[in-house]
Parts: sequence; C-alpha cells; structure tokens
Amino acid sequence: MKLIKLQAVNKKYKLGQTELLALKDISLSFNKGEFTAVWGPSGSGKTTLLNLIGTIDEPSSGTILINGKDTSGMSDNQKSDYRNTRIGFIFQSFNLIPVLSAVENIMLPLQIRNVRTAVARKKAMQRLKEVGLENLAKNRPDKMSGGQRQRVAIARALVTDPEVVIADEPTANLDLATSIEIIEIMQEINKKNQATFLFSTHDQRLLDRMNRLIRLEDGHLV
Ligand SMILES: Nc1ncnc2c1ncn2[C@@H]1O[C@H](COP(=O)(O)OP(=O)(O)OP(=O)(O)O)[C@@H](O)[C@H]1O
Ligand SMILES: [Mg+2]
Repeated sequence: MKLIKLQAVNKKYKLGQTELLALKDISLSFNKGEFTAVWGPSGSGKTTLLNLIGTIDEPSSGTILINGKDTSGMSDNQKSDYRNTRIGFIFQSFNLIPVLSAVENIMLPLQIRNVRTAVARKKAMQRLKEVGLENLAKNRPDKMSGGQRQRVAIARALVTDPEVVIADEPTANLDLATSIEIIEIMQEINKKNQATFLFSTHDQRLLDRMNRLIRLEDGHLV
C-alpha cells in the first residue's frame, strides 16, 4: 500500500466572483521513505499541493488517501491529530520563536505533547547534533545565519519522529551553497530514519540532486 495517494485531485480557490483552478487533475503517490522534490515556477501550485497532503487544506474534488484512509472522512480533530503526530513541517521563513534558544525551539513540539522537560531536552539535543549545531544550542535565532536557522527548523520538524516531512521551499531564503547543504542534511536524515520527505523548490539548480522529481506547471503535472 502507498503511504500517500492522490486521485484526480482538483483545488479551486474562490476570488470574489471568479474561481481559480490551482491544481488540475493530480494523481500521484508516495511510498514510505521516498525523497521527492516538487518543482515548478511561482504560482504553479506547489504550496497548494503540500498543504493538501499535509491536511492543512482540502481538495475541491478527488481523493487523498493516507495509509489507505480517505482524508475526506476524517474529522477536524482526526486531521489535527494526524498533523501533530505524523507530520513534520519545515517552512521557507523558518518560523522559529525569536525569544527561545535553538534547543528550546526544538523542544517545543515535544512539550506541547506533555513530554517531560528533561526528556524533551535530551531528544532536542540529539536532533541538534544531527544537523551539526550542538554547540549553538543556547543561541537565539537572531544570533544565527539563515542556514543555521533552517537547520534548527529541520531539527524541530524531526523531533517527534514524523512519518512524513513536508518542506515548502525550505531553501528559498538561502544562497546556493547553503541550500545544497540543507538538502544534503535532509537526505542524510531521510536515508537514516526512512521518513518520507516532500520538498518543494523553484530553484532549478537543486534538481540534479533529487532522485524523484514532480514537475508542476500552472496546476498541471508535467
Ligand atoms: N488562499 C488562496 N486564495 C486564492 N488563490 C490562491 C490562494 N493560495 C494560492 N492561490 C493561487 O493559486 C495558485 C497556486 O498558488 P501556490 O501558492 O500553490 O503556488 P506556488 O507554486 O507555491 O508558488 P510560489 O513558488 O510563489 O510559492 C496561484 O495562482 C495563487 O495565486
Ligand atoms: Mg509556494
């Protein structure tokens, strides 16, 4: 069974009187442990696609199956449970909490789940080490470079051992060398822990590093 399966998915946005078809007849599936890049120009539907897979948003028609289960039959509670326990999100703008140190930012998802502070700290430090930043544990995000912040965000997304990691343009604010570093860290983690990674980018220079590529153009799969 496929981990994630989209069947004839369409997504419409209403803009006043008009409608915009942001995704058109998308059928796709992802196996456990796969590392996939979604590539396409600005406005092609990458964020829309990742939001649907992350159950942040719902398709206008078509079905999305996760572990064989139709997400349209899930209640809001079931969806937020699924997001909280099975998915790690990484964003373009890092979304770190400025008043918390690196390690505290990474601990947060565990503390929300009522994991004891000592246990959360230990796990967060392990993740920080995996992204090569254990010596910056006490730094706040504003004392870090963009690449370091994104590594903290990766560690935070992974601290709950998610089944799926969704990274929407995680390298958009980084230079090429740092972007490649970030991809390599994600790929290493992907190999090691077999989480399924979905990564979007509009940067063509990163594509030869991907083993699976999905191309979107104007809401279509190409
Ligand atoms: N909430 C929304 N309401 C209305 N239209 C939207 C909404 N979100 C996205 N769109 C439109 O849907 C299309 C796809 O947008 P999407 O954000 O998925 O593209 P993208 O590939 O992620 O672009 P970018 O590379 O700029 O992030 C665009 O035409 C966009 O203007
Ligand atoms: Mg986007």
